[in-house]
Amino acid sequence: MAIPESLKSGLTLPVIAAPMFLVSGPDLVVECCNAGVIGTFPSLNQRTTEGYREWLLEIKARRKPGAAAFGVNHIVHPTNPRLMADMMVSVEEKVPLIITSLGAVRDVVDAVHGYGGVVFHDIANIRHARKAAEAGVDGLILVAGGAGGHAGVIHPFALVEEVRSFFSGTIILSGCISTGRDVAATRALGADFAYMGTRFIATTESAAQSEYKQMIVDAGATDVTYTPAVSGIPANFLTKSLVANGIDPKSLPEHKLDMGEEARAWKTVWSAGHGSGAIHDVIPTADLVARLQTEYRQAVAGFAEEPWRAG
Ligand SMILES: Cc1cc2nc3c(=O)[nH]c(=O)nc-3n(C[C@H](O)[C@H](O)[C@H](O)COP(=O)(O)O)c2cc1C
Repeated sequence: MAIPESLKSGLTLPVIAAPMFLVSGPDLVVECCNAGVIGTFPSLNQRTTEGYREWLLEIKARRKPGAAAFGVNHIVHPTNPRLMADMMVSVEEKVPLIITSLGAVRDVVDAVHGYGGVVFHDIANIRHARKAAEAGVDGLILVAGGAGGHAGVIHPFALVEEVRSFFSGTIILSGCISTGRDVAATRALGADFAYMGTRFIATTESAAQSEYKQMIVDAGATDVTYTPAVSGIPANFLTKSLVANGIDPKSLPEHKLDMGEEARAWKTVWSAGHGSGAIHDVIPTADLVARLQTEYRQAVAGFAEEPWRAG
């Protein structure tokens, strides 16, 4: 296990509630932290850098003593004009966990390490994992096939094993983790943390529309379509929501459709992963984490039994 000490405080499960565009905000983050899992959000969920700072102050004020740590996702790419200003706020406010997407940059890592923070970077293929490891990140988030958002296509078994062969930092596994049994399975695979997105959309505190939450509850793994047509990068979307927006899932182009700005696309076409099939209700985050804890403990206890032995 290679979990930084600063992130262990207040944890009741090795779980990070993943940052989700237009879905995660202070209510979800605070409930996660107070229940004992790491809550996160993309800084771009606030319209301005000043708004971003206000959210950080609000989260700090509402977290109970002894709560788990929180984190922020920054898109490290020239198309994100807010990167420098938002990063400065993260440094000033000493955000405990920074999650970088698209670019893994040594300067960002050094700035975060400078105040004692931790950097995890998300990757969907081995080449990007190697580049991020070279940039000195503390952890790699392995986005496997079937994940919500910009998913990869590699099987999680293969991804964990191959990355572990050259990276000794924290391994965070992402994709279709919906139950406490799934969390136990990530540990059995050798990952340090489970990174859960879609399951946390279907909570009372997520900012998703109620119809979006219900569509996840109603969906199975085959009700999800993997396509670059919405965002330019392949991502998983609820097939019904593509249809509701007049997009034919049977004849999708290999390029981005003209849907206006990125936020508009994600607001109307709803993303979710194959793990939707294991999600049957919309419940308060505190209840979800309590359920995950029970399922996790049962699964871990079950590993000690060997019912497959003859006699
Ligand atoms: C609606 C939605 C929005 C997302 N937005 C972001 C984002 O802004 N930044 C990011 O790093 N990952 C984003 N992701 C990916 C998640 O952080 C995470 O990797 C993924 O949801 C995990 O897979 P799961 O949904 O199967 O649990 C998003 C995922 C979803 C479903």
